[in-house]
Amino acid sequence: MGIIEELSSLVQDALARIPDAADEESLRQISSSSVSPKGFIADFLKKIKEIPAEERRDFGQSVNAAKQQLENAIASRLAEIKQAASSKKDYLDITLEGAPALCGRLHPTTQALRRICDIFVSMGFEVVDGPEIEDEYHNFDALNIPPHHPARDDVDTFYLHGDVILRTHTSPVQIRTMERIEKDEDLLIRIISPGVTYRRDRPDRTHTPVFSQVEGLMVGNGIKLTHMAGVIESFAREFFGPQINIRLRPDFFPFVEPGGEIAVTCPICGGKGCPTCKKTGWVEIMGCGMVHPSVLERQGIPPAKYQGFAFGMGVERITQMLFQVEDSRWFFENDIRFLSQF
Ligand code: DAH
Repeated sequence: MGIIEELSSLVQDALARIPDAADEESLRQISSSSVSPKGFIADFLKKIKEIPAEERRDFGQSVNAAKQQLENAIASRLAEIKQAASSKKDYLDITLEGAPALCGRLHPTTQALRRICDIFVSMGFEVVDGPEIEDEYHNFDALNIPPHHPARDDVDTFYLHGDVILRTHTSPVQIRTMERIEKDEDLLIRIISPGVTYRRDRPDRTHTPVFSQVEGLMVGNGIKLTHMAGVIESFAREFFGPQINIRLRPDFFPFVEPGGEIAVTCPICGGKGCPTCKKTGWVEIMGCGMVHPSVLERQGIPPAKYQGFAFGMGVERITQMLFQVEDSRWFFENDIRFLSQF
């Protein structure tokens, strides 16, 4: 192959690659291997002295023409690339998806709380509210909790001033309800009261100083322990699923007699035994009992005629069961990665 054919084959090759150069960098590579001082055009110019004198002029012209042709092609491709890049900036593709709008949702505890309330409302209970700032009378005395009871210690209770405290449970709402209602012939109380409660606990996997409870109270003529068991069992099956059983065992709370503690079949292992239920197959979800006669009497409700039951459950614990969350502190840390899973 003669030197001119060699040149022309290299030029054709480079010219063919130019239109395919997608960006400035690939174009710069073509330019560097062809028209730059290190490219093949420069090599050919150096060879000029090897050419017989009478052909040098034509040869020189051919090389320069090739260089010109390549430079023009490169320059016009560069202009195209720049043009494309700048028009891209202004180009609005209306078919693209928009940025996703992040949607807020209810906190898992609120979701569980609403579900609890819905179930009791469907059984005829009314949802009532009570103050978070309480006095010692409603939080303790009226509930038969004597002056020197350990729960009243300021190690356990947040005292604001005098006998004003942050309520340590939702049970004072029982008292406020009994105070408020008319004590007439057809007295019938069916309330639940969800809300926040406070205790001076050091936070760990199962304790936080601020937590939620739902209190329940039913008082009327002829209300028995079996009514309590039935209401609580219906609630538990509606909340956790029909496969759930309840276990009622005696426990002591000063404001109920007899007092009990309710456990449900562990919703996580189905009762087989797992770390959450400490291999027992049961998890305790609430305290309960028949309202103590002296509690009724103090509120002007004659215990010979009216009886009732009460219960109180920890909402975080129940939410933990429902959503199978290991550590209850996560409910308070407001980490979006945690909260967005519910
Ligand atoms: N108030 C109790 C607590 O916070 C829970 C409780 C137990 C509430 C028995 C009740 C009850 O209404 O009858 O530990």
